[in-house]
Amino acid sequence: MKVVFATSNQGKVKEVREALKEFGIEVLSLREVGKELPPPEETGNTFCENAYQKATYYSKALELPVIAEDSGLEVEALNGLPGVFSSRFAGENATDEENNLKLIEELKKRNLTSSPARYVSFFFFSFPKGFGLWSEGEVKGKVIVEPKGEGGFGYDPLFIPEGYGKTMAELPLKEKNRISHRGRAIKKLIELLKKVNW
Ligand code: IMP
Repeated sequence: MKVVFATSNQGKVKEVREALKEFGIEVLSLREVGKELPPPEETGNTFCENAYQKATYYSKALELPVIAEDSGLEVEALNGLPGVFSSRFAGENATDEENNLKLIEELKKRNLTSSPARYVSFFFFSFPKGFGLWSEGEVKGKVIVEPKGEGGFGYDPLFIPEGYGKTMAELPLKEKNRISHRGRAIKKLIELLKKVNW
C-alpha cells in the first residue's frame, strides 16, 4: 500500500520510510508524487493543528492517503520555545546551523550550558474520504551548547536523550528511530492502523 508523506524534509522521509517499510507501507514523498501544489500555510499554534492542516489539505488535493507530521523542540529555559517555530527559530528559511546557533546563543545569554528539553512529534493520517487518525510521541532529554555528531538533522547535535551520554546526532538512525519522538509516534500510528479497517 502507498501513502504520501507530506514533507519537504528529507531527514524525516528517511526516518518514516524506514519505520513503515516492515509493515508493507510504501512511503512516497511529495516530490515523488510529481504534482506541483502550493504548500499550505502553517498557521497553527500547536503541533496538532499544523499536522491536521497539512494532511487534510494534501489528501483532498491529491485524492490519496496522506501522512503529515509536525514536530519540534521545547526547551524548558526558553519557556517551551522554539516549539512550533523550531524550523524557523532564526528566521524564515533559516538553516539547521542557523537555528542551532540561535539556540546556543539564547542559552548562553542566560548563562546556561544546558537545559532540560523535549522533542515532540504529532502525526495526522488523512484519507481522502475525510477519515483521519492521529498520534503523538515525545522524547525527554537536555540541550547543550557544544554541538556533537554528524547524523540526524535539525537540533540533533545539541540534544542528549535521557539515559544517554551522546547526542541524537551521534546515534545510528535505527537507534534514533527506536527512541525518538517520531519513532514513538509512528509506533502508535501503526497500532491504530492495525485496529481500523481502511
Ligand atoms: P516541521 O517540519 O515544521 O515539523 O519542523 C520541524 C523542525 O523541528 C525541524 O526543522 C527541526 O528544526 C526540529 N525537529 C523536529 N524533529 C527533529 C529531530 O528529530 N531532530 C532534530 N530536529 C528536529
